[in-house]
Amino acid sequence: MTTSSSLHVLGISGSLRKASYNTALLQAAAELMPPGMTLEVFDLAPLPLFNQDTEKPFPEAVVEFRTRLAQADALLIATPEYNSSLSGALKNAIDWASRPPKPPLNGKPVAIMGASTGNFGTVRGQLHLRQVLTHVGALPLGKPEVLVARAEQAFDAEGRLVEAAARGFLQDLLAALARWTQRMSQA
Ligand code: FNR
Repeated sequence: MTTSSSLHVLGISGSLRKASYNTALLQAAAELMPPGMTLEVFDLAPLPLFNQDTEKPFPEAVVEFRTRLAQADALLIATPEYNSSLSGALKNAIDWASRPPKPPLNGKPVAIMGASTGNFGTVRGQLHLRQVLTHVGALPLGKPEVLVARAEQAFDAEGRLVEAAARGFLQDLLAALARWTQRMSQA
């Protein structure tokens, strides 16, 4: 559980593609974590499409996801923007995590970031994501916003985040998530 010296964060990327900028953003987060914070990246690809007919019992991959989420002090989401919204893969994961018993997103501190090849760096997708997270009782952190626009310039050919401003915002987000998680655990 949360102590001032240890904070375990689960990271998920809403993009399933191998060379995803959002998955690369999670790798950058792992690099820029403040002392005492650890990141475990969970791959959403094995999650089946949500189907209310097959949720009892939950499929194995879903049990794994829900367990990892329940055990984490906080969640870090790297979201792509698909057609001005969040990706289907990410919404699907949230739907699985929203179901009883003990929906693991309820009361969970969450930080959001995103990378897109467009000019607005997932701002519209992040707004939709916030709306969904609020509905399921998660506790999304408001600021700072990490909006990586024109991702093909912000990352190098190896997928390393090289844009200095984005690295700074990401570092600030992680520090803010640490404070937010501490505050929420005391609320
Ligand atoms: C996109 N892309 C995109 N970009 C954007 O800034 N706004 C948008 O609304 C969309 N819409 C969109 C829809 C679909 C179906 C795809 C596949 C792509 C482009 C998107 O930002 C780009 O493909 C990113 O590289 C996706 O993120 P990952 O996969 O690199 O993490």
